[in-house]
Amino acid sequence: MTKEKILEVRDLAITFKTSAGSVRAVRGVDLDLFKGETLAIVGESGSGKSVTTKAIMGILSNNGTIESGTILYTYEDKSEKVTKNLLDLSKKQMRKTINGKHIAMIFQDPMTSLDPTMSVGNQIIEGMRTHYNTKKKEAQEKAIELLRLVGITDPEARMKNYPHQLSGGMRQRIVIAIALACDPDVLICDEPTTALDVTIQAKILELIHDIQVKTGISVIYITHDLGVVAKVADYVNVMYAGKIVEKATVNEIFYEPKHPYTWGLLLAMPDLETNPDKLVSIPGNPPNMAHEMEGDPFYPRNPYALHIDKKKEPPLIKVSETHAAATWLLSEKGPEYSLPIELQQRIERMREEDRVYGTE
Ligand SMILES: Nc1ncnc2c1ncn2[C@@H]1O[C@H](COP(=O)(O)OP(=O)(O)OP(=O)(O)O)[C@@H](O)[C@H]1O
Ligand SMILES: [Mg+2]
Repeated sequence: MTKEKILEVRDLAITFKTSAGSVRAVRGVDLDLFKGETLAIVGESGSGKSVTTKAIMGILSNNGTIESGTILYTYEDKSEKVTKNLLDLSKKQMRKTINGKHIAMIFQDPMTSLDPTMSVGNQIIEGMRTHYNTKKKEAQEKAIELLRLVGITDPEARMKNYPHQLSGGMRQRIVIAIALACDPDVLICDEPTTALDVTIQAKILELIHDIQVKTGISVIYITHDLGVVAKVADYVNVMYAGKIVEKATVNEIFYEPKHPYTWGLLLAMPDLETNPDKLVSIPGNPPNMAHEMEGDPFYPRNPYALHIDKKKEPPLIKVSETHAAATWLLSEKGPEYSLPIELQQRIERMREEDRVYGTE
């Protein structure tokens, strides 16, 4: 079965004007999203995850400029397939025709996306009314159904509540219900669980997964946390300093990671065997994107760096049909190398756990 591509981002570059100069936040990102699949974007703070998805939504802040790129979005319109470059649309056109209706986004803090002065019921039906002119009664019925879908009990009564009357976890469920109200094809989740406590986090993740199974929606899931990636993703894009440095299926990322940055992220991930005191976060800090960079931006933090990294940024080098990484280690003239021993042991443990508990 051939997969249907919904989003195809090519060579996306974005800069921001700031008092400290121009910040090159996104430097040539390619990204593909297929129908019914979850693409996780991972990377440290400031790597460009949110900016990339805000560009897809057409909600970049005013000091941002798209320097290059295309964002092709394919959808069905009266049973015809239509492909549009979203970058050709104005912000107003995006709001009217794409946002909410085709592509919806949920953010980290549910409070910022909810209107404190409006009942949650009205917030859920608002989009249906404006995008589809849905009759009030019908919209209300659908809102109740959505509240049920996101696991809210006694939905009829909850419709009348205001955000401050609900817990953090419930608010995030409401935000998800609002996002789903207009039956979007794509749901972008930007760290939707970080503001919530751990047990609620797990429940929200499960909820997003269930919704995906039920509705066949495609999801872009942004997170710092590779543990979350393992639970939700089909594909993974690892971002560093405004670029995707490794892209692969979730199994390839965990069992056959190729980029030293990904190795660092994996080693920083807690697992059952590792003593939390021994977890090593990647030493050093990401580069300041307002500065001109020469060579690979990861070079100063990379224990596997080669001479060439100082001069020349590596391109993505293909490893398999689904896997590529931007490291000179993979080039034909690259040296022999082996993964850090702790990582080899960890991968062995993951494989063992998968054999015992998993589906492989
Ligand atoms: N409006 C803005 N003006 C100036 N710089 C910005 C603006 N928005 C983002 N940036 C810069 O762009 C870079 C990428 O930011 P982005 O928010 O995409 O990071 P992120 O990967 O989402 O990080 P986090 O995990 O902390 O959310 C950062 O260096 C950030 O400071
Ligand atoms: Mg972000």
